[in-house]
Amino acid sequence: MISLYDDFLPWFYSVLPEISHDCALHGLQIEGRPYLKRIGFAVSVTQEVCERALSYEIDTLIVHHGLFWNKQMLRGPIFGALKKHFEFFICNQISLLGAHLPLDIHPLWGNNVLLGQKIGLTDPIVYEKGLLWRQKISHSSKKDFFEHCTRMLSVKNHNLLDMQDAKEIHDLWIGWCTGAGGSFLESLPYCDVFLTGEVPERSWELAKMQNTLLMTLGHDDSEIYGIVGLKEECARHYGKNIELFLL
Ligand SMILES: [Fe+2]
Ligand SMILES: [Fe+2]
Repeated sequence: MISLYDDFLPWFYSVLPEISHDCALHGLQIEGRPYLKRIGFAVSVTQEVCERALSYEIDTLIVHHGLFWNKQMLRGPIFGALKKHFEFFICNQISLLGAHLPLDIHPLWGNNVLLGQKIGLTDPIVYEKGLLWRQKISHSSKKDFFEHCTRMLSVKNHNLLDMQDAKEIHDLWIGWCTGAGGSFLESLPYCDVFLTGEVPERSWELAKMQNTLLMTLGHDDSEIYGIVGLKEECARHYGKNIELFLL
């Protein structure tokens, strides 16, 4: 068994150092049992994830989207879904750990680097302290790249039909940001194609005006990669001393 405070948390903070501008509380959010044997990994805390956590008898849950935002302790009142989530972790003595921005920007197994690799973008330029990624590909068209993405990913929404130059072959700048990256459409150097998890409604108008092919993948679906990467890193470090589950 692994000690939460003496072993696991020091390892966790060493592989995912805290980032000062992260709005989420990094690392331990709710204390459960003092020793770890079975860890669950998920993008968000949901009812389904909590049910699976019980069926797998995990003692620790690590998520990308935890329960503490704005880095403050909750001001309350605590009611509804949040109350149920707190009850779940405290009553079942399950620890909750969050890894937000450090998991988005990790250069080897973060959300963005792995999403890029999934669609063959392995030589990116990184912007916005690791949140925004961009790469040029040669001799392609928006339509071809769109079809490539739909083979590799589950594309939820897109504006390909708005693109009058969709079939034109030329160099393409591809930009991407997992999660909610819509605001980067305004600050990013021009992109022919931009992929993200979800966008506000105005982003579709903006993308159309600047002739950017915009693809959304779903917020949580776009952020599964980092949590899988962290699980694999955990397996490399702890080997058979701990059991790991993707919930
Ligand atoms: Fe994220
Ligand atoms: Fe997110």
